[in-house]
Amino acid sequence: MARILLSVSFLLGTAVAQAATTEPPVPSFAFLSTPPIGLPVMPMPAAYKPTEAMFDLGKKLFHDGILSKDRSVTCASCHMAKNGFAHPDALPPGVDGQRALRHAPSLFNRGYGTLQRWDGSSPSLEAFVLEPISDPREMGLRLNDAIDRLRQSKDYQKAFAAAFSEKPNPEALSRSLATFVRGIVSGTAPYDRFLRGEVDAMTPQQRHGQWIFESKGGCWKCHTPPLFTDERFHNTGIGVAEGKPEAGRADITKDVADTGKWKTPTLRSIRLTAPYMHDGSLRTLEDVVKFYGRGGNANPHLDRKLKKLDLTEENQSALVAFLRSL
Ligand code: HEC
Ligand code: HEC
Repeated sequence: MARILLSVSFLLGTAVAQAATTEPPVPSFAFLSTPPIGLPVMPMPAAYKPTEAMFDLGKKLFHDGILSKDRSVTCASCHMAKNGFAHPDALPPGVDGQRALRHAPSLFNRGYGTLQRWDGSSPSLEAFVLEPISDPREMGLRLNDAIDRLRQSKDYQKAFAAAFSEKPNPEALSRSLATFVRGIVSGTAPYDRFLRGEVDAMTPQQRHGQWIFESKGGCWKCHTPPLFTDERFHNTGIGVAEGKPEAGRADITKDVADTGKWKTPTLRSIRLTAPYMHDGSLRTLEDVVKFYGRGGNANPHLDRKLKKLDLTEENQSALVAFLRSL
């Protein structure tokens, strides 16, 4: 009997693992307390306790044009579920036919990180989530005007009362959006099931790719499992023009040593979120692997962890297959 149960749950497990390779993970409030397989428990904000009513309100706001100047742009129009909460354009479109300054990163597992934005200039999720609203290239609406609109809506009066027992206000707006973003989580990948002992969860090619990731590739040093990011800043040479990097993190810290550094993004669900990098300049995972194969882009501040890798065609395909299994 025990053996039958075991093999049934094994089969179910495999089915879920396969579904996870094609369907984008669905945000859920449950992840805040019970993370999916492979992920640690998410740290919670010190100032308040996220609730399901905040999550529901945040989800509604995330998908509502009410937060943009002409009501045409929502958080979800740049962070699209089917694209892994990223955007398929290098620079996503905002109001008045404008483009955001950088590529829209995937929002997976941002609840595990503190500093937000590619350059880490935003100190928390709560601080960050209000910034796109007033950004003239993104949603183009003054925060006060956004709050006025919410206060005039019967629906939102009710939803804010249910979540906060308050009228719409900036702090409640930020907490509800942050709570929804915390629920955007990616785990339970074939990789996690394999580590748990489901030996068939990964293909031999994916396991070969994992080996390259952990040995010769040195990828793990910055894309550290289980979140596949160290949440730190590195210069890989993306955005270098004529040997000169952009300022990147140095714009924030004013430290020359931080020149051309950007935050390491997670690799979870990376198969969904093309194009890649802070400027969206690499179109495919194959392009990314070629980029690392040549040791990044040369510049005076290139991270010492990057070296020319001499990856064979077979090595490259295996590494891509591994990335697709995350
Ligand atoms: C016009 C497109 C656009 C809209 C609309 C937009 N974003 Fe973004 N989002 C971006 C871009 C571009 C970045 C990267 C910004 C940077 O690093 O300077 C980003 C970054 C983020 C980050 C930080 C991710 C990280 O890895 O640091 C979060 C969280 C986020 N957005 C949530 C939201 C929420 C919530 C909304 C709605 C209130 C929203 N975004 C609206 C384009 C957009
Ligand atoms: C020195 C630290 C470091 C190492 C080593 C490293 N990466 Fe990265 N990785 C980064 C940083 C930083 C970025 C973002 C760079 C940017 O946008 O300018 C990045 C971006 C990426 C992206 C794009 C993610 C996205 O959402 O756009 C992929 C895919 C990736 N790396 C895979 C790898 C692989 C595969 C390896 C090993 C061959 C590797 N990385 C080694 C730091 C590193």
